[in-house]
Amino acid sequence: MRVLIVGGGGREHALAWKLARSPACEAMFAAPGNAGTAQVGENLPIHDSDIDGICNAAAERRIDLVVVGPEAPLAAGLVDALNDRGIPAFGPTQSAARIESSKWFAKSIMQAANVPHAGGELFETAQAAHKWLEILGPDDLPVLKADGLAAGKGVIVPDHIDDAHEAIDQMFTGAFGSAGERVVIEDRLSGMEASAMAIVSGADILPLPLSCDYKRIMDGDHGPNTGGMGVYAPPGFVGDSDDVFASIHQPVVDQMSSDNIEFRGLLYAGLMIDDGALNVLEFNARFGDPETQAVLPLLDGDLLPVLAASARGEPLPRATISHSGRASVSVAIVSGGYPGPYDTGKAIHGLDAVDDAVDVFHAGTAIDDDGRTTTAGGRVLAVTAVADTLTEARGIAYDNVRRITFDGSFHRTDIALREL
Ligand code: AMP
Ligand code: GLY
Repeated sequence: MRVLIVGGGGREHALAWKLARSPACEAMFAAPGNAGTAQVGENLPIHDSDIDGICNAAAERRIDLVVVGPEAPLAAGLVDALNDRGIPAFGPTQSAARIESSKWFAKSIMQAANVPHAGGELFETAQAAHKWLEILGPDDLPVLKADGLAAGKGVIVPDHIDDAHEAIDQMFTGAFGSAGERVVIEDRLSGMEASAMAIVSGADILPLPLSCDYKRIMDGDHGPNTGGMGVYAPPGFVGDSDDVFASIHQPVVDQMSSDNIEFRGLLYAGLMIDDGALNVLEFNARFGDPETQAVLPLLDGDLLPVLAASARGEPLPRATISHSGRASVSVAIVSGGYPGPYDTGKAIHGLDAVDDAVDVFHAGTAIDDDGRTTTAGGRVLAVTAVADTLTEARGIAYDNVRRITFDGSFHRTDIALREL
């Protein structure tokens, strides 16, 4: 099969790396890709938002399967456009992708399917939202969410009720563009967070190992949120993972099927777990980033037939893939200043000094005119180690992270520490 990965981050490098190992993979392309995907296949200079460009490239290159990484092209209808041209694509249609692109749609599905979730109300005017905050009272701090996609920035967890009122004004005056035209005010839950991803083909689901990402920039979960500073898998605090998928993913995809919105692709549930009680905070309609960089290395076998079956809406060939039962730790190396402003174009040193058994997934990287690998984004690399225990995986990951440097490079030192 000839495979095209859409996107250019760490998740897409991990997908390209895993799928290129399939005996069925004849050729690998990435659009636009990065310096990591260039090691695995050919990069095509097409932005992931260029739906016509991707459809044309897929037709010209006789692609058998397009795998869509990021949420924005899914919400914009890339899979529908590819399917209209007869090109199989892994990922939900625009309509099914609403499980991620509308917080309120996700809530209504969970409500109908009896899936435990953070309760909430939808507001279409600032006035009504302010009034609701007043009813809640100053000590009952909620979470505010732009209903639409806001590049991961549409969730506000205020520390004070005045901040909540201010955020409402910002959202309704366009701080998140059209994503904030409708706002969900949600109950605030506490506990430990985990990510649960399953490959889905209609009502058929194939669970992947659970994982935990770290969103804050600094050790101890201090500082602003980022796109992800590291991940470990599997978490020790979740209990039986089969129960998670049976009580969340299965009823959700069944509900969507019965509403004639068949889901195909990757369904990601962001969970809050408090004393064994599970609640869903959000769904994503795609592989998590950086979760994918920690989870795919834990899979034995061939992922390509599974994604291809999902793209065609066929039963998933579950025997082709299994969980290794091992543990992984993935540490992000980021540019100094991230998630604020940062420099790019810094030469990355030490990439050839890492252990063979360690995977270095590229996120924001490029190859400069002199052939050097340089930084090209905030999150630059994800260094993933797999071992029999989390303790071992953590030791190997950090031993290798320290061998890679660039001007201003930064990483958290406490990924997976809470489990040890
Ligand atoms: P998201 O951008 O949807 O991934 O949300 C960002 C973060 O906001 C989540 O990882 C949680 O830490 C937090 N969050 C979202 N919803 C809630 C909620 N209902 N209660 C508490 N924290 C939440
Ligand atoms: N790691 C969270 C996400 O992919 O949205």
